[in-house]
Amino acid sequence: MNADAQKRAAAARAVEFVRPGMRLGLGTGSTARHFVELVGERVRSGLNIVAVSTSETTSADAKRCRITLTTLDQTPELDLTVDGADEIGPDLCLIKGGGGALLREKIVAAASARMIVIADRSKLVSTLGQFPLPIEVVSFGLAATQRAIEKAIGAIQRPGPLTLRRGKDGHAFVTDGGHWILDAALGRVDEPAALAHALSGVPGVVEHGLFIGLAHMAIIGGPDGVEIVRGPEISS
Ligand code: A5P
Repeated sequence: MNADAQKRAAAARAVEFVRPGMRLGLGTGSTARHFVELVGERVRSGLNIVAVSTSETTSADAKRCRITLTTLDQTPELDLTVDGADEIGPDLCLIKGGGGALLREKIVAAASARMIVIADRSKLVSTLGQFPLPIEVVSFGLAATQRAIEKAIGAIQRPGPLTLRRGKDGHAFVTDGGHWILDAALGRVDEPAALAHALSGVPGVVEHGLFIGLAHMAIIGGPDGVEIVRGPEISS
């Protein structure tokens, strides 16, 4: 199985956790798109669910698949969110935001009773941080925010270069929320909770891509099939 087939297999296994009447959170990215398509097939066969999307891209996919969309304002509590990840580390701590949707993804995951992460085998790591950590910031005061982020990271661990993410047109990539993203090339993150706490305290940081204590289960598609990894008990 190639990586895309592994993603599809993980998404297909996650669909088995969807029950009639559920309020779903739909993630963003190539793996989450498989899940949206597979849920769409079930919807067109009569499954009754409503869903909140984590990005404009996923909303377009969901509409194309005839999935009924709602909002967190209309439906503030969700039963299950299924989303991809850029890295899945110990205790199901995640790095997310490679697709730029981390803010809505985190809000939706936090509003869900359960979160299932779906991914191909390459995303499972023993230490987070090889994938640059996305940090969503407001554009106002970027240079000052960048310095404050460097200081906050430096208080916890070895810092790495921060790069303003750019789109294909060369301009700053703009998130669905109208913000910019700094990608932090850290190499490794040994204390994700401490780093998350430090980053959350920086004025100008809207959100960061460390997802801690949110995922209940990971479904990993591998060359030989699908593996389920359960997280530590989460109090929510
Ligand atoms: C989107 O912002 C990300 O958090 C994605 O969930 C993540 O980048 C995984 O994407 P793929 O499934 O495309 O690898």
